[in-house]
Amino acid sequence: MLELNRRHLLAGTAATFVAIQAGTSQAQTETIRQDDRRTRFDTGWRFAFGHLNDVEKDFGYGGDLRTYAKQGIDATPVAKADYDDSQWRPVTLPHDWAVELPFVHKEPKIPLKPDDHGAVWDPAANHGYKPLGRDYPETSVGWYRKTFTLEATDKGKRISLEFDGVFRDAMVVINGYIVKRNDSGYTPFRVELNDFLNTDDTPNTVLVRVDASLGEGWFYEGAGIYRHVWLVNTNPVHIPQYGVCVRAKTDGTVEVATTVRNDSNVSQKVRVSSSVHYQDMPSSNPNTYDDSSVELAAWGSAEVVHHIKVDKPALWSLEEPHLYFINSNLWLDDLNVDLVSTRFGFRDIRFDAQTGFFLNDKSVKLKGTCNHQDHTGVGAAIPDALQRWRLQQLKDMGCNAYRASHNPPTPELLDLCDEMGILVIDETRMMTSSPEGLAQLETLIRRDRNHPSVILWSIGNEEPQQGTERGAHIARTMKRLCNELDPTRLITAAMDNGYGEGITEVIDVIGFNYRDHLIDDFHAKYPNLPIIGTETASTVSTRGEYIKDDAAHIVPAYDTTAPWWATTAEGWWPHFDAKPYIAGGFIWTGFDYRGEPTPYSSWPSISSQFGALDTCGFPKDNYWYYRAWWQPEPLLHLFPHWNWEGKEGQDISVWAHSNADEVELFVNGKSAGRKTVTKDLHVEWVVPYQPGRIEAFAYKAGKVILKDKRETAGAPAKVVLTTDRTALVNDGMDCTVIKAEVFDAKGRPVPKADNLIRFAVSGPGAVIGVGNGNPNSHEADKASERKAFNGLCCAIVQVTGAGGITVAASAEGLSGSKVVLRSA
Ligand code: GAL
Repeated sequence: MLELNRRHLLAGTAATFVAIQAGTSQAQTETIRQDDRRTRFDTGWRFAFGHLNDVEKDFGYGGDLRTYAKQGIDATPVAKADYDDSQWRPVTLPHDWAVELPFVHKEPKIPLKPDDHGAVWDPAANHGYKPLGRDYPETSVGWYRKTFTLEATDKGKRISLEFDGVFRDAMVVINGYIVKRNDSGYTPFRVELNDFLNTDDTPNTVLVRVDASLGEGWFYEGAGIYRHVWLVNTNPVHIPQYGVCVRAKTDGTVEVATTVRNDSNVSQKVRVSSSVHYQDMPSSNPNTYDDSSVELAAWGSAEVVHHIKVDKPALWSLEEPHLYFINSNLWLDDLNVDLVSTRFGFRDIRFDAQTGFFLNDKSVKLKGTCNHQDHTGVGAAIPDALQRWRLQQLKDMGCNAYRASHNPPTPELLDLCDEMGILVIDETRMMTSSPEGLAQLETLIRRDRNHPSVILWSIGNEEPQQGTERGAHIARTMKRLCNELDPTRLITAAMDNGYGEGITEVIDVIGFNYRDHLIDDFHAKYPNLPIIGTETASTVSTRGEYIKDDAAHIVPAYDTTAPWWATTAEGWWPHFDAKPYIAGGFIWTGFDYRGEPTPYSSWPSISSQFGALDTCGFPKDNYWYYRAWWQPEPLLHLFPHWNWEGKEGQDISVWAHSNADEVELFVNGKSAGRKTVTKDLHVEWVVPYQPGRIEAFAYKAGKVILKDKRETAGAPAKVVLTTDRTALVNDGMDCTVIKAEVFDAKGRPVPKADNLIRFAVSGPGAVIGVGNGNPNSHEADKASERKAFNGLCCAIVQVTGAGGITVAASAEGLSGSKVVLRSA
């Protein structure tokens, strides 16, 4: 007899797959990966600000009492189902209200003093000059409200909400009951709703109060429900959140531990089955399978361990990230009551203190980038498709590793790293063994331990206690927890001093943040401790600028400038590349991000200038340095631009990043010399400026293999739109980055163009943000127009329905352009 699966039972729809035949020990044709227990709960929210002085929102039983004395619908007016929220703004998650706020500069209350190195740090600059914090109560506390009714089929089910991340200090209220407080802005949390749900037709009201007055980092962190929310609906007998732990070895053995819970008043005999499937070929045979039964007491839980062997598994690697999934099914007699699909990969990782990092026994130098979750136009609320786009830019550069600094990343980012073949250092926010610190670490590991991309747990970054005995105690406790929850991965911490002391003896892989000059001596003294550069470079540059201008907060894009603790790209990579015992390094950063404006730590700068790419993802010249030395393909990149009006006859430095044997420069057709390329370094000429053209030829074995040129452009004449994706998915979330570039009448890019570009969308799409990568711009992200910065700006266009979408760009005095997208 074939059984109906949960989807049939719940929704009564036609069969979408054939379930496992009960009572046999063989997986048959049950092949489709699915998780129909979770639905996205991102739409239909309304948003309003409301701090303590707001009588309507904050708690005051029976009025303005400012108390949590009683629970239920009388606790606060906004909890009532019939509360009129029409004045609240409709929002769709993920949502970051900080990015919508203007940039605000106030004279600091305490006069700023230069630090020991002469830098003046404005604390408001760290979070990107957004009006959050004690001086801005009106814009620091936000309320989200949503009403929902359950389906008749939900009766008797366990219902919960899962929040992937709320920044920060969230209070969740269901029908007037405070059901959860969660401080962390990065750790996901789950709320069980059953006791508080209406069982009649009255809609349920969920409120989320979010208080972003305080930050957790020294960088822009956003504000609000900036990750997805899920409504989870299970049977009383079910697999709880993070209830499946998969450990797979390259010999094909899989150990899967499944937690099973019985949230009912009677004991239950549950059969648990685990079947392995290959992601790209779900119906391929042989599927492998194990099952067993367990007796669960009322309200009890148990863990079931299965062992499965897959014949000659396709390994997860950077080049071919093969993925498998396990379907974990629960059965009560013949009834299939739960199904959870868990993705995993077969791969082996190893750090060697002499020879670096190995993936499946193959040496891999970690060519990493550190990043914060922030992008132009959207802030911390990065749609999944934009996460993918960002990772693709990094991968194109040759980056094979990502450090989620300094907090647990959005789960979809890890899914994408699994799919795209990118290694990850997964980092907890707080280095502490306090109950809260350990709880955050535990959630991180339980959530992320099935991802093949994750290679290390990082327990801290530049923590004050790193070189102390107390630090060692804390690290030991954290390590114990890591080892207990995941004996398959090592732990690291990013250190910036105290090397050889404190936590050094506890962590498995030592992370150097800068201090490259100490690495060789350290290795000589601690030859058995693997080394990575958890942060390297911190080179600063402004895209398209080549002259330092401290008054304008502009740094040249030649690879020449770095703060005192940091170095240039050429300052670190040749060293790391040459030493086999350094497993690799993670540049600070892949992308520019808001806040922590460095090197100019005060107004008007609102974002950092560390990125190889700017906040829009436009490459700076250093991107091409890394691409030349991190990618095998031949590359030639010539810079700067060739519009130096007023500097005729003056010397200009001309650089090329190339991995060819030699590069020759021509100025207006005349050779300025052929230079031999030294591994991991650029080539450079100094030539007097004359308008026209510079051109470079790259040679391999004496033959020209590539050419690149820069030409003196005339006045701006047209704006041209391009995008790398025109076929979008009509899922309400998909989006694409539209690049706008200004050209002259002869089609040459105009390097200093700053025209105001207007974006207009027709069809089922909308601009959700704009940007230009200028670290000193105070223009709005949430707008449909943006000035070009050094010739470029962008708009992010998101689908709102199915059909053709036309995005048009116009600018005064310029001819316009269009791109056509399709959402299906
Ligand atoms: C490090 C820190 C990073 C960032 C970086 C800038 O000290 O860990 O978060 O601030 O410096 O160079």
